[in-house]
Amino acid sequence: MLAVKKVVTEQDTLAFGLKRKIEQHEAVVGVIGLGYVGLPLAVEKGKVGFPVVGFDLNPQRVAKVNSGDNYIGDVKDEELLDLVQRGILQATTDFSRLADCDVIIICVPTPLTITRDPDISYIENSAREIARYLRPGQLVTLESTTYPGTTQEVILPLLAETGLQVGKDFFLAFSPERVDPGNKRFTTKNTSKVVGGMTPACLEIAYTLYSQTIVNVVPVSSPAAAELTKVFENTYRAINIALVNELMLLCDRMGLDIWEVVEAAGTKPFGIQTFWPGPGVGGHCIPIDPFYLTWKARQYDFHTRFIELAGEINVEVSYYVVNKVVRALNDEHKCLKDAKILVLGVAYKKDIDDVRESPALKIMELLRHQGANISYHDPFIPVIEPHGGSTVHMNSVELTDEVLAKADCVLILTDHSVIDYGRVVAKAQLVVDTRNATKDVAVNRDKIVKI
Ligand SMILES: NC(=O)c1ccc[n+]([C@@H]2O[C@H](COP(=O)([O-])OP(=O)(O)OC[C@H]3O[C@@H](n4cnc5c(N)ncnc54)[C@H](O)[C@@H]3O)[C@@H](O)[C@H]2O)c1
Repeated sequence: MLAVKKVVTEQDTLAFGLKRKIEQHEAVVGVIGLGYVGLPLAVEKGKVGFPVVGFDLNPQRVAKVNSGDNYIGDVKDEELLDLVQRGILQATTDFSRLADCDVIIICVPTPLTITRDPDISYIENSAREIARYLRPGQLVTLESTTYPGTTQEVILPLLAETGLQVGKDFFLAFSPERVDPGNKRFTTKNTSKVVGGMTPACLEIAYTLYSQTIVNVVPVSSPAAAELTKVFENTYRAINIALVNELMLLCDRMGLDIWEVVEAAGTKPFGIQTFWPGPGVGGHCIPIDPFYLTWKARQYDFHTRFIELAGEINVEVSYYVVNKVVRALNDEHKCLKDAKILVLGVAYKKDIDDVRESPALKIMELLRHQGANISYHDPFIPVIEPHGGSTVHMNSVELTDEVLAKADCVLILTDHSVIDYGRVVAKAQLVVDTRNATKDVAVNRDKIVKI
């Protein structure tokens, strides 16, 4: 692993002063974008004593933070409230306060455009705001997931327009966020963090910052290496999920149980990592980030074939799930048109409250398009608002025995832990299970159809 060279000396007044402020937790930390990544990060920094200013364009989010009202599952309500009440954490829409910050961390969205190209406009807008207030002695780090080259090719030129010099007057680094929402074992603090600086001094200062709150910081030689590391991690997941999804489609034809096969393969103590099939991939990362790399690779006359193929398969499985529902109803002498389908779980994965890019949205739209009568229950998502390309707008129904019994088919798309699947199977007429959520249900198994 790369060693962080100690290049900052007392003679480099700006760098040395900033590093000392960071070590003593006196540096004012600004966090741009108070979402799933930014708010937990702001709280983590505040908990060790850094004064934190959160910036967001969304005034409702800013007001919530300032009244200590938590809206992110991975943040503890009492910790946010305590930091706000003690004046350690504040939020604002006033970007002129960036001038007060010694460290500025960018955590804004990086979606795809309608034509599936990277939309880095949020990063560009943040960099422009920073440039307006940039002053000597500040560290800027980017945490948003993006293609290799963004920090150097997009952010640096915008900041350099100020006439200030990177590595001397201000410091710039990329450090990807790896947070896994809902994961109780690995949190921001105990998940190793990769960091790459524009210059050796940038790396040394950014490394010092992250070492204050994170157990293991992993330095790499450049921001681009750190950017690619993150995209590679998510690509690895996307491709392995696609591999097991493809095997699932084959198992369906061969009449074999994919869940049994994957579980058995997972008993090999080396050379394999278990990925489970499902109704498709969702969230802010897996369906999106690999295509940032695909886009960038094209500039090098290179085609990322694995990524394209994985993308195709991970979309195809959503259509397969619709087909599976049709076949399951058919076996009951029913058709999809006018059938009552109760979708159980719409979040993109279990035990979280995020529905962005969830395969449930696509599957619900496809089912509705074919005439099905759709309702849903998700204890974490009381309402689905239209967003992104999805037009679904629905409220979660209560999971009563009557609701379960009335549905022609209960379709499990997300296996939240709080649901009693024994009761679901007992009360439902038919269950299509895309997550093996019913694996421990011992009775009424003839009602269950698994993907
Ligand atoms: N959610 C995850 O699990 C996760 C994990 C690792 C990495 N990431 C990456 O982190 C980045 C942020 O993702 P997120 O899930 O936190 O997004 P989010 O949508 O939850 O939060 C982003 C916030 O940024 C705000 N914002 C947008 N433009 C802004 C601007 N110009 N100035 C100030 N605020 C602005 C939005 O109002 C929103 O509150 C993305 O690049 C994402 O890919 C996300």
